[in-house]
Amino acid sequence: MSGVVGYIGDKNPVEVLVAGLYRIKGHDSAGVAVVNDEGVTAVKSLGKLENLEAKLAAQPVTGHLGIGHARWATHGVPNETNAHPHFDALNEIAVVHNGIIENYQELRTSLQQEGVAFRSQTDSETLAHLIRKYYQGNLFKAVQQALRCAKGAWALGVVSRHNPDVLIVARQGSPVVVGVGDNEAFMGSDVSAIIKYTRDVVYLDHGQICEVRRDGIKVEDLDGNPVQHEVVHVDWDDSAAEKDGFPHFMLKEIHQQPEVIRNTLRGRISDDASDVNLSDINISEADIKACPRITIVACGTSWHAGMVGKYLIERFAEIPVELDLASEYRYRDPIVEKNAIVIPVSQSGETADTMEAVRLAKSQGARILAVVNTVGSSVARESNGVIYLQAGPEVSIASTKAYTTQVTAFALLTIWLARIRGTMTKDQAKDMIAELRTLPDKMQLVLNNQEPIKALAGKQKYRDAQSAFFLGRDYNYPSALEGSLKLKEVSYIHAEAYPAGELKHGPIALVTNEMPVICVAPKGNIYDKMVSNIQSIKARAGLVISIATEGDTAIQAYSDDVLYIPECYEPFSPILVALPLQLFAYYVAVNRGCDVDQPRNLAKSVIVE
Ligand code: G6P
Repeated sequence: MSGVVGYIGDKNPVEVLVAGLYRIKGHDSAGVAVVNDEGVTAVKSLGKLENLEAKLAAQPVTGHLGIGHARWATHGVPNETNAHPHFDALNEIAVVHNGIIENYQELRTSLQQEGVAFRSQTDSETLAHLIRKYYQGNLFKAVQQALRCAKGAWALGVVSRHNPDVLIVARQGSPVVVGVGDNEAFMGSDVSAIIKYTRDVVYLDHGQICEVRRDGIKVEDLDGNPVQHEVVHVDWDDSAAEKDGFPHFMLKEIHQQPEVIRNTLRGRISDDASDVNLSDINISEADIKACPRITIVACGTSWHAGMVGKYLIERFAEIPVELDLASEYRYRDPIVEKNAIVIPVSQSGETADTMEAVRLAKSQGARILAVVNTVGSSVARESNGVIYLQAGPEVSIASTKAYTTQVTAFALLTIWLARIRGTMTKDQAKDMIAELRTLPDKMQLVLNNQEPIKALAGKQKYRDAQSAFFLGRDYNYPSALEGSLKLKEVSYIHAEAYPAGELKHGPIALVTNEMPVICVAPKGNIYDKMVSNIQSIKARAGLVISIATEGDTAIQAYSDDVLYIPECYEPFSPILVALPLQLFAYYVAVNRGCDVDQPRNLAKSVIVE
């Protein structure tokens, strides 16, 4: 994810800003802006932070106030023009922004009509021009007024040539903290960016704006009402700070899921919440109507998300969908029909097999619509259109937030396709969108109540198991596949997933009282079928853990243990079910002393065949 930093005080701001930027994981470009007697001087560079450092060494900048940014592209390709800080037309006001301005097109057009010339393709630049528009000497008021016009998410830092004593910081959605020091102050996207200098921090809340001066801070909401703030002393060590206080990146990323799902949905739902807008898709309605078949290609976790996508698209948009592992697709001479659409799914956008599958499909005339997390990645570049996940960089090798955002992206795509194909009414779309929007809060409930999952993973019969089965049906067969992959990746327990109806055709021979069988059985159409599968395992003395819907006490009779998820719309249940499965794998691995973030033999991005 992009990150922001800021500093006001007697230290060299460049040093403080660059040190903070080094703590932000994953970026494609970076930049700083420093206020001094000459104005606001910016230095930006593409690629690694070392490039920025080299530039700063060659052209030193001094001052007492500055902001910095490490960018992970969301709007516009990675290049120096799109890198932050962004400026107003007079180069007097500079902003760094992490988040998404949903109505930036609208704001951009109206500013252009007023004569403003834009330099970059970013949504963030809009804020610099908007602040200038309202600026009358008081930077705090101007930012407040500008943000009242913006929709979306921001962690924002603003400085101005004419206000060398203040740093303005604002938050909505994207996190940001202000650090308080001795006659100095700091800003960072998280504590890790500033912990080298201070442990006294103020966590800004949604909708708050803060005027930061060396000797104190003032917090208000966007309407100008004063807000009491609390200075919190954090005593994390350095490595815990990098993980936001979590012991592993995997756990941090599991916890980020409510926020990143909100980001995936952000800006993609019409104002009346009855339609989906996919502006970057670059595939026309005529192409969609003419499409005889969609083929989804992917590897690993992304392939599991693709399977949920297949079930959703076939059921609601009534388009036949083929799902293939990219490594199989590329060598099996697949038939690419006229007007076919191929959807590669990839977190990194760099997986070699997925990339080759894309090239093959393209050479056979398919339109390529990628579901990808990394902007500017190879898969994204080679595709006709892209749905970006907006999950931020995933550091843990075991994928978590990329998976749930991929499934969310497929849910959006399904609604969009179904509306174009005329297989879904506006009212149905409205209902589905309403269901999607409830997911982040429901995910938060699961995360707030993980003690039972932790306790379960600590039980000797599960922790020391040699082998485990994961079962599910319909939408939750892919959930079983993903739960099984998570467990084997991080805990090294042998695990297999089956569609529950298939168990009786062989694998049930392996069920013993030492074999945990994790059964994904939320309420829904195939619930009764799942229950009879569970009963057949129990009849063979298998150790059953059921994942069920809150309130389903009946299932306890056939289960050794039950993990509950909140009630939800069945087609989207894989998004919720993923959480207990991820947490179970995580805690079992921790209990077994495994290196959770760096499992043996695995790579985050498999760029060779
Ligand atoms: C590797 C990772 C998996 C990931 C797979 C596909 O094997 O360890 O976690 O699911 O690659 O990666 P992609 O970046 O294409 O989604």
